[in-house]
Amino acid sequence: MEEQEITVSLSTQKKEKPKSDELQFGRIFTDHMFILDYEEEAGWHSPRIIPYQPLTLDPASIVFHYGQTVFEGLKAYVTKSDEVRLFRPEKNMERLNRSNDRMCIPRVDENLALEAIKKLVSIDKEWIPTAPGTSLYIRPFIISTEPYLGVAPSRSYQFIIILSPVGAYYEEGINPVRIAVEDEFVRAVKGGTGEAKTAGNYASSLKAQELVSDKGYAQVLWLDGVEKKYVEEVGSMNVFFKINGEVITPELNGSILEGVTRSSVIQLLRHWDVPVTERKISMEEVYEAYQRGELEEAFGAGTAAVISPIGELAWKEEKLVINDGITGEIAKKLYDKLTGIQYGTESDPFEWVEVV
Ligand code: COI
Repeated sequence: MEEQEITVSLSTQKKEKPKSDELQFGRIFTDHMFILDYEEEAGWHSPRIIPYQPLTLDPASIVFHYGQTVFEGLKAYVTKSDEVRLFRPEKNMERLNRSNDRMCIPRVDENLALEAIKKLVSIDKEWIPTAPGTSLYIRPFIISTEPYLGVAPSRSYQFIIILSPVGAYYEEGINPVRIAVEDEFVRAVKGGTGEAKTAGNYASSLKAQELVSDKGYAQVLWLDGVEKKYVEEVGSMNVFFKINGEVITPELNGSILEGVTRSSVIQLLRHWDVPVTERKISMEEVYEAYQRGELEEAFGAGTAAVISPIGELAWKEEKLVINDGITGEIAKKLYDKLTGIQYGTESDPFEWVEVV
């Protein structure tokens, strides 16, 4: 692919930055954004950074009707010595293209996408918050823009990157959350789009989430879409259980999203000689382990929350209180190591950090 120069047009009106200790997740956006266009004849072209602004789109754009779209999520951190860092950003760009393949969206040049992230983050560097647990969330996404009501892949797209200074994803921070096992709705099935980071997976999860949040649960634990027996994900995160010293996470099976945090957790556990297995795990197995007193920990892992301990799991008529409802040792160690690598206070044995 030909090298394309990213042009920059700076904003003349700088927005007021939020206070670091008042940040929520994903509500405030920085001064600039990145855009790259695609048309069939020209391919991806005109990479540019421009002032953050609304988009003008034809109401018939395919994205509004059939959801042909993909997205990514990663974070930038600033260290005490003012170094700006990204965590395994190439993994997100690889996954973006895997999602593109699934959704019939043309692949993007991963090097150009990475360069765009770095340039945009550098320009909006002052927006990276510094309080503990805060960061700059990076949201790359692609939308199908062809005005057409036929069900077919679009012939034009926009690849956009926006930035949002964020606090903890859950208000609880690393504190354990209450989770309800979902036995009516399903998130995805093999052969569907569960492996892709695409809007529809998240839209279809809302109903289950809405129903359990009315009962005081933070999220649902998703079971497989065929037998509703095997554990798949928790909320929008991958899930891990520690049973009798062994950490188990559902194997990638065609309906589970391959999380960057998931793979980092597995690598770290192996590095620490903690037994870790990727395999099918049923809710019955989790329950039986709980009854034997062997369910030691359960936690979600994702970019937004990093590690989110599960303090209580509601399943059928049962309430499984895990580790007395407090954060487990492995969850805490993983959270501290991952965030330590990201913020530069811990060694980075796998060279996951990329300096901007
Ligand atoms: C994550 O980073 O864990 C997510 O997938 C959440 C995101 C959709 C906000």
